[in-house]
Amino acid sequence: MANVVKIANMDLSYGNETILQDINLSIKKGEFVFITGPSGSGKSTFLKSLYGALRVGKGSLNIGGMELGKIGKRKLQKLRRHIGVIFQDYKLVNEWRVDKNVQLPLIIAGYSNQVLEEQTKKLLAHVKLSHKVDRYPFELSGGEQQRVAMARALSHNPFLILADEPTGNLDEYSANVVWELLEGANAQLETTVVVVTHNIPTHLSIPYRQFSIKDGALYEIY
Ligand SMILES: Nc1ncnc2c1ncn2[C@@H]1O[C@H](COP(=O)(O)OP(=O)(O)O)[C@@H](O)[C@H]1O
Ligand SMILES: [Mg+2]
Repeated sequence: MANVVKIANMDLSYGNETILQDINLSIKKGEFVFITGPSGSGKSTFLKSLYGALRVGKGSLNIGGMELGKIGKRKLQKLRRHIGVIFQDYKLVNEWRVDKNVQLPLIIAGYSNQVLEEQTKKLLAHVKLSHKVDRYPFELSGGEQQRVAMARALSHNPFLILADEPTGNLDEYSANVVWELLEGANAQLETTVVVVTHNIPTHLSIPYRQFSIKDGALYEIY
């Protein structure tokens, strides 16, 4: 099976401060990967590199067949349209209604209004928020906001989902919904998923790999 992520001897730095050193990792299509590690160890830094928000220092980082250190801005933007990203603090646009937040990636990609409407309807039903279509983020609970963020991340069928502590701010019910959505995307759509988290749920029904980041290095635990 094809590697969705292939990293060899990668260093990641901010200025001349190296955060991660000599990272080697291959993730195959359809794998579900957890990354744990102490606060400040570089988990978010690592995820940032995977969606192209942080340039590779040394080494190579290949995502979906593209070498991130070598592609230009336009190709990177194009690649990012096929990656869904979810954050602990949701990062919704507060001035926009739920439907427009969900549509954002599709708007950027230039889809017609008809596609926008059909996809939004489908996605909001999927995250069980059809009744909130005309609300604004501040009118939603944290769990509901994260489900909107999930719908947005799924909106144009990403081959890779990257989630940075997606359940960090959520109550148990909402956290379980988010895990179910991530599991569902992985199991039903074969989407590759990489999640940074402090608590790996105990009730997952799918196989997964677990890595830990510590002292600037990435280790496989399972
Ligand atoms: N934009 C930045 N500029 C400089 N240093 C940063 C930046 N972002 C994070 N760092 C530093 O990189 C290290 C790893 O941070 P981060 O990846 O956010 O850790 P984690 O997500 O594991 O808590 C920390 O020491 C942090 O201070
Ligand atoms: Mg972090």
